[in-house]
Amino acid sequence: MSDAKKLYIKTYGCQMNVYDSERMAEALGGQGYVETQSPEEADMILLNTCHIREKAAEKVYSELGRMRGLKEAKPDLKIGVAGCVAQAEGEEIMRRQPLVDLVVGPSSYHRLPEMEEKTRQGQKALVTDFPEEDKFARLKGRPKAQRGPSAFLSVQEGCDKFCAFCVVPYTRGAEYSRPVKAVLDEARDLIERGVREITLLGQNVNAYHGEGPDGAEWGLARLIWELDKLDGLQRIRFTTSHPNDMDAALIEALGSCAKLMPYLHLPVQSGSDRILKRMNRSHTAESYLRLMEEIRAARPDIVLSGDFIVGFPEETEEDFQATLDLVEAVKYGYAYSFKYSTRPGTPAAERAQVEEAVKTERLGRLQDLITRHQREIQDGMVGREMSVLFEKPGRFEGQMVGKSDYLHAVHVKDALVAVGDLRRVRIVESMTNSLAGELI
Ligand code: SAH
Ligand code: SF4
Ligand code: F3S
Repeated sequence: MSDAKKLYIKTYGCQMNVYDSERMAEALGGQGYVETQSPEEADMILLNTCHIREKAAEKVYSELGRMRGLKEAKPDLKIGVAGCVAQAEGEEIMRRQPLVDLVVGPSSYHRLPEMEEKTRQGQKALVTDFPEEDKFARLKGRPKAQRGPSAFLSVQEGCDKFCAFCVVPYTRGAEYSRPVKAVLDEARDLIERGVREITLLGQNVNAYHGEGPDGAEWGLARLIWELDKLDGLQRIRFTTSHPNDMDAALIEALGSCAKLMPYLHLPVQSGSDRILKRMNRSHTAESYLRLMEEIRAARPDIVLSGDFIVGFPEETEEDFQATLDLVEAVKYGYAYSFKYSTRPGTPAAERAQVEEAVKTERLGRLQDLITRHQREIQDGMVGREMSVLFEKPGRFEGQMVGKSDYLHAVHVKDALVAVGDLRRVRIVESMTNSLAGELI
């Protein structure tokens, strides 16, 4: 295998891109590529890009600029751009960066092998269609390799919600759910390869409505209960959800499915109804809070997580205060907050923008509050017993690191624990970014 071609993939953006990168590596494995961690060694470099905020999109062009030297040193090197920037700006990338050989949008990854062949013949390849066919079904890869204990599995893609700030409906296209059988087959395959925890992915994963083996449409809860039956699978998670698609069956599953972890990422974006309306979120702060209460009633120990945007067009200090109030009311175990970033082609881009300095100041205040809650919730784990799925050796001799049910990083000092073990642990200390525990 020493003459195998080498593939270097750099992944930006969300977990769906992480999953897609794995699948692209598998698909190109069928073309004779093996992955490398070094761009200098690579025969093909793929940037799997994100278009969600301006900074993320700009990174692509600066990264491509840095590759000029590599291509000069190795004229045969193929450079490809995949992901959401490829979808949104494919033609422009080809124009602006002559060293790019291949541009492929997220819905067209099954075309990669034929596109790679085209570039080998010295041609450029650009595909950014939204095909009718299922990209996943045709993304076939090389023979099975052993995997780590935790894996992503995309079950749903695209979005029909059209929040006024967001590019996802344009870069990932309309909502699509994979059939139940395809999901189960892939899950079984992952389990055979050593996977113990599966995180189901989708831009709107709780809007999942895949075709079941009975021909009926299955919701996410039903899919989860089916996965629950698989021997060898010990944990199930799902992300990202939308408040409007949190149905009763899913809340019930959070309360009663033992394999479904007590953690929920449920973005709300703002605590101001005025802003939520302008964002086209079609829920209110109050309906969100009521939903959170219902979820907590079903699963009292659940750790909640969210996303926030500050400085959305026309956001006033009063609107922002409502966001702080909502955060205070929910108390998130984790939360991700961003300054609003103007995205070309989205409705909010046309509206009166908030000054950058104001956004920065609000983001600081919001993050201080979130960090304080996050800290309190993490510290509150001390003394409790929970399960930890061990993923890798820690930084120190004899140390092993894993994730708790609540997604906190936990390390123990015990050489007898192996990667992939799910063990009961008592938490003894809370550090900056992790917990220390002892095996029970
Ligand atoms: N599908 C998910 C995630 C979308 S992108 C959902 O609906 O929640 C992840 C997060 O990025 C969003 O929740 C939002 O907080 C943030 N985001 C999206 N567009 C943005 C923009 N234009 N500016 C700043 N943050 C944005
Ligand atoms: Fe974007 Fe809104 Fe769809 Fe989430 S629900 S992907 S924020 S448009
Ligand atoms: Fe980014 Fe596309 Fe994901 S824009 S957040 S990589 S869906």
